[in-house]
Amino acid sequence: MSKKILLGVTGSIAAYKALDLTRLLRQDGHDVQMVATKNALRFLPRLTAEVFTGHPLYSDMFDPACSVRHIDLARECDALLVAPASADFLSKMALGLADDLLSTLCLAATCPVLVAPAMEENMYLHPAIREHRKTLTARGVYEIAPETGPLASGKEGLGRLASMEAIRKALDICLTRNGRWSGIRVLVSAGPTHEPIDPVRFIGNRSSGKMGYALATACASRGAHVTLVSGPTALSPPAGVDIRQVTSAQELENSINQAFPDHDICFMAAAVSDYRLTLPHPEKRKKDGNSWTLTLEENPDILAGLSRLKAPDQFLVGFAAESKLDHKKLLDKLRKKGADMLLANNISQPGIGFSSDENEITMLLPDGSSLCMGKHPKAVLANKILDEVEKVWRFPPRSRQ
Ligand code: C5P
Repeated sequence: MSKKILLGVTGSIAAYKALDLTRLLRQDGHDVQMVATKNALRFLPRLTAEVFTGHPLYSDMFDPACSVRHIDLARECDALLVAPASADFLSKMALGLADDLLSTLCLAATCPVLVAPAMEENMYLHPAIREHRKTLTARGVYEIAPETGPLASGKEGLGRLASMEAIRKALDICLTRNGRWSGIRVLVSAGPTHEPIDPVRFIGNRSSGKMGYALATACASRGAHVTLVSGPTALSPPAGVDIRQVTSAQELENSINQAFPDHDICFMAAAVSDYRLTLPHPEKRKKDGNSWTLTLEENPDILAGLSRLKAPDQFLVGFAAESKLDHKKLLDKLRKKGADMLLANNISQPGIGFSSDENEITMLLPDGSSLCMGKHPKAVLANKILDEVEKVWRFPPRSRQ
């Protein structure tokens, strides 16, 4: 599988390892184009890099040889791998800065982006760098974790560039993934719904939308076309995703039902309100010294409705937020709703679930099998979920698009 790899090299002492990496990637049959930052060139001999890649090494945005090419470079590559990625460069990527050629390419690239950090342990574990790494992961950037071992300072610690083997393996995963999901049309619902009581009040829930947004991001970074139907959240729309904002369960139902026939797979991650007001007040109700009784009626079960519309090659994934995970009850729910996969999380445990950054998910399939995926950040879980979908769903040969 010969692919075009854009290898970004930044100012870390490990920059010289980019040469070895280039040699191995070329042995694997890939075409490697190197782009180095100004600081990387203090560690990396330009001529050697050009001989190893067989291409000119680009670095300066305003060099006439590459200023016209830089958008092409981003468009043409199958993967952009930044190895080594310095603390400074990770921060730039997270902030979306574009003040040199490599950072500009990182913004322009639509292919999978991987970063292999290399730095001193204190820098890697510094709260600022942790935050930036988290931001990048949530955006779909694949981090190839550094190793523990001797560092440039002479100390032992975490921060050595990942092994060549680990980098090649990660690249392989991203390149294959991209092939599998490329062109697949994914529909994701996320967030809570707000059921109006009157023009200013509503019934809602504590869903943050983070799990659904993480899934939409992970699908998009694997090359899928993603439509995200989102209830009210405080999150920014993920890059490259078609977002449709809704408020109530009825609006969510209309939007999802309209979009579903044009999609191959649907993740119903939204926390749809089970009830709505039978008769919302047209005007804001004023205090009058009396008690106020609200009459609620059940909202339709959107997921169950989709399972009745589902074509044989479509795949439907439901979620369940439970205070106690009971395998038999969950299996009944999965079968009753007619989904192909149910992802259950225990919301009674502190630090996981609805509004937190982490979740603990157990996956159930209609044949009764289950898998506990463990507790992870939602961005990591989203990728684990997609890996499981890959195992059980026969992907359509061509997208419906
Ligand atoms: O029945 P329960 O609310 O636990 O089901 C959760 C799953 O069903 C989620 O996938 C959610 O998006 C979906 N759901 C729905 N319509 C509802 C309630 C939940 O599609 N009215």
